Amino acid sequence: MDIRAIDTPRLDWTGDALALGFFEDAVEVTDDLAVLDEKLSGTLNELIAETEFKGKEGSSAVTRVGAGSPVRKIILVGLGKAEAFQPDTLRRIGAAIARLAKKEKSKILGISLPVWNQAPDATAGAIAEGILLALHKDNRFKSEPEDKEPLLERVDLLGLAGQEEAITRAQFLASGVILARELVAAPPNECTPITMAQTAQAIASNHNLQLEILEQEECEQLGMGAFLGVAKASDMPPKFIHLTYKPEGTPRRKLAIIGKGLTFDSGGLNIKGAGSGIETMKMDMGGAAATLGAANAIGQLKPDVEVHFISAVTENMISGHAMHPGDILKASNGKTIEVNNTDAEGRLTLADALVFAEKLGVDAIVDLATLTGACVIALGDDIAGLFTPDDTVAQELLQASEKAGEKLWRMPMEEKYFEGIKSPIADLKNTGPRPGGSITAALFLKQFIQETPWAHLDIAGPVWADKENGVNNSGATGYGVRTLVNWVLNH
Ligand code: BES
Ligand code: MN
Ligand code: ZN
Repeated sequence: MDIRAIDTPRLDWTGDALALGFFEDAVEVTDDLAVLDEKLSGTLNELIAETEFKGKEGSSAVTRVGAGSPVRKIILVGLGKAEAFQPDTLRRIGAAIARLAKKEKSKILGISLPVWNQAPDATAGAIAEGILLALHKDNRFKSEPEDKEPLLERVDLLGLAGQEEAITRAQFLASGVILARELVAAPPNECTPITMAQTAQAIASNHNLQLEILEQEECEQLGMGAFLGVAKASDMPPKFIHLTYKPEGTPRRKLAIIGKGLTFDSGGLNIKGAGSGIETMKMDMGGAAATLGAANAIGQLKPDVEVHFISAVTENMISGHAMHPGDILKASNGKTIEVNNTDAEGRLTLADALVFAEKLGVDAIVDLATLTGACVIALGDDIAGLFTPDDTVAQELLQASEKAGEKLWRMPMEEKYFEGIKSPIADLKNTGPRPGGSITAALFLKQFIQETPWAHLDIAGPVWADKENGVNNSGATGYGVRTLVNWVLNH
């Protein structure tokens, strides 16, 4: 599918479907639209009156225009209140229009929407992102693809001529989000530590990144006892992935992005019981997926920032080799951890990844992890939790997520709760009491950072969508990729 930015007036555009946006309570057919309406024998006014279209966000109306018309269908979309108009509105509207055009089996679609804040680049970028993300459909695991109807061939963004670069950037970004979605959606028999390493290899060769994969023995030499404790019961070899993007000149900044990479979380010997969602635990590598998705986008966007993409990838399984509840593990910074619950495995793998990242001497570290059910209870399915002692990194990430249209909310790092993860026998235990479970998880991670500005994003809620919502289709969302890319590019 081709997305073009053109200057053809909407009066002269021809194609299968023309989408027109209207603000709430400002649905007026005036100026060039009045001329267009005349050309279409009054179709616009009739459709607006018949459907009582008021321009509310999320509302739409579609009609077929008489034969011989240069435009076969008209799609009206509501933009909501003009005061609330944001790039994310355009992203959602772009997604809604793309879905309608698909439903209407349109091949050539024209979109005419207002420009946000006199910024045609942000406008074109947001619409293109919405279209690309809404149209992504994962047919990999169906023997027969579900949709056989002809797909959209061309989308014309009217009034946005010259914004090709913004569209290309949206395509790079979307390629990262889609990669992350497909990694998360892939079942745990298909997406394993081995295939994750292969995906990292493909990103490295396609976009010229450096790749280092630490095998089990090398992890042992580095003393990664926490990560390897989790990996013990799996028949699959663990893979510690370290991808590096280096800009051509001197980097303006050096960053590390870490993703939790559990390709399956059974809970270990504290096995996940009935009703615990064990069957959804393929998505426990959503952080690693976002990390690789961001690497894929950044490798194409080529910012002047050095970025390290890291994930300690393994499964959390059971076998005669499994770590026992009660085991004491030693992480690569020398800290000892009493494993009082084998299902709090993510923080064990992240501990060694954090220590590794800090040794690289980066300016800031962000980790993303489907870490706790407690965070989902606190913030629901749409919002990720942000945990950081650093106000600057917090502001950077909140801005980046706002711009991305990915919801993020800062949570407290209440030091008093650290009491809950003190162990009588080791330096720490990996699980605290149920109350404040996402906070004690973040406090645990903090033990593996010395002085580098660091933030942790608990993405257990938004990694997956039960139903279609905005640019997300039901299933894996690719949450985090857009926030990470904005963070790297704009801060
Ligand atoms: N991967 C889970 C967290 C999770 C839960 C992700 C629901 C997505 C949806 C994590 O490894 C886990 O099992 N966490 C436990 C921690 C507890 C044992 C302290 C949890 O949240 O129950
Ligand atoms: Mn777990
Ligand atoms: Zn987990």
